[in-house]
Amino acid sequence: MHRQPIVVGNWKMHKSPREAIDFVKQLEARVCEFASVEKAVAPTSLALSGVSAALQGASLLVAAQNAHWAGGGAFTGQIAASMLRGLAQFVILGHSEVRAHLAETDANVNRKAKAALAAGLQPIIAVGESLAQNEAGATVDFVRGQVSAALDGIAAADMARVVIAYEPIWAIGTGKSATGEQADRIIGAAVREPVRDLYNDRVADAMRIQYGGSVKPGNMAEFMVQPNIDGALVGGASLDVDDFAALVEIAARVKGS
Ligand code: 13P
Repeated sequence: MHRQPIVVGNWKMHKSPREAIDFVKQLEARVCEFASVEKAVAPTSLALSGVSAALQGASLLVAAQNAHWAGGGAFTGQIAASMLRGLAQFVILGHSEVRAHLAETDANVNRKAKAALAAGLQPIIAVGESLAQNEAGATVDFVRGQVSAALDGIAAADMARVVIAYEPIWAIGTGKSATGEQADRIIGAAVREPVRDLYNDRVADAMRIQYGGSVKPGNMAEFMVQPNIDGALVGGASLDVDDFAALVEIAARVKGS
């Protein structure tokens, strides 16, 4: 089953709205030829409207870095998934930094995923184990649990719009990545197989899964050649136009046809 490769740059709390607009204009010129790869940038919320206006009709899509499950209300500092309609095609949910610093729970990730789908967005649900869990051999059970909790009650028909990003916490921003084979094995056992059990072969075989954690042009191909890996969720390297363009080019070369 062919799955379109997907490369997303998670800019975290980097780049002002002005810098974000300048960057996406340069990046679009570099990546628009790689039509076989879906690609998106996730700027800060403040930059979403400027970036989305600058990318009208472009190949580069837009992702939000988070969203709230409620349609509106007394939620200081939050943005409703429904408010992102027209500004973003994707929304990253359950990132380990949000889980660690903002007490994000599996139950809230699930509520947010449902709200995102109802708003017509494609959730990118981030999962991944800590170094301690990894060393204790608990990775597959833990990630499996995150996946099934995040997908609880999501209809099979909506699963075509769900992307899962496996990001081992110990590999984020550390320069230490999993090997391609390690990541592929965990993604198979802890993400694709549980989705097969929860839904069916068609849903599991069609679902796109990214690897994230210190992905750079130098190791991108190692991940993209793996059968279970359909793309990357990239932090640091996505802040540089040359690196981001190289990642898209590698995804197109390895998995674009
Ligand atoms: P780095 O690519 O900087 O390790 O970040 C990964 C990440 O957290 C993407 O969401």
